[in-house]
Amino acid sequence: MPDSFKSNNYSLKSVNLMNFQGLVFICLADNPPSIAPTLEKLAPLTQPFGLEQLKIAHSASYPVAANWKLALENYMECYHCAPSHKEYSKSHSLKDPGEMEALIPSLNIRSEAAGLLIGEINSTGPTSTDIGTDCYYRRYPLFSGYDTVSNNGQPLAPLLGSLASYDGGASDLQIGSLNNFLIYSDHVIAYRFIPTGLQTTEIQTFWLVRGDAEEGKDYVLDDLTWLWHVTTLDDKRIIQHNQQGVNSFHYRPGPLSSMKFDVSEFRHGYLTILAQE
Ligand SMILES: [Fe+2]
Repeated sequence: MPDSFKSNNYSLKSVNLMNFQGLVFICLADNPPSIAPTLEKLAPLTQPFGLEQLKIAHSASYPVAANWKLALENYMECYHCAPSHKEYSKSHSLKDPGEMEALIPSLNIRSEAAGLLIGEINSTGPTSTDIGTDCYYRRYPLFSGYDTVSNNGQPLAPLLGSLASYDGGASDLQIGSLNNFLIYSDHVIAYRFIPTGLQTTEIQTFWLVRGDAEEGKDYVLDDLTWLWHVTTLDDKRIIQHNQQGVNSFHYRPGPLSSMKFDVSEFRHGYLTILAQE
């Protein structure tokens, strides 16, 4: 048989792959942008959460009649949180930057006691040259009385990783433009925004707990999923309203609130990528 007919000449293509604390990144480009230096900085911040030990407790898919960029932009900013998310706003200080800043010193004390390193990463923004590998990490305080984001503030599941206590914090983690995580002391929410048409998007939501947690014994699924189920339904409604507004003949873009800094950074990065194509 001629060499050209041997099956190993027609094997699957190889891809660039990286495993970061159980999160697997692949890149189809021949020369992938370098993500390693940023992940090295991120590693000690996320290591105590034991991300590699997580398991999916539940996942849900929310079809939204809107372009994926409107869905993503909605997730990236919290200007809409106070008026749109009644349940979320009881526990998350992100809805009010002034209140959030005042709570940070006490959060830092609790986070250090829990075993977390205090630090932020923000490689996004107008100076970024690699939006595909941009990384954002920040831990911010929940309101007093909330160890996590249950209806009553009480724990929902066993502590993640090596955490020694509930610090009453929430970490926003974004790796690239499309990988979004929210890390509480006892569970993680992961989001994916899948374009399914010009004006249809699937918002996929995952609830993750530590791998050895047992449903019914260590967590109650309805309690675990309550907040981000109702919050995502709120978001679905306002994203669709947004799309209807954009579709109007009379639509004109307005200025962005200063609370929407992430959105302007995303738009800049996305347009930069398009200009490179
Ligand atoms: Fe929202």
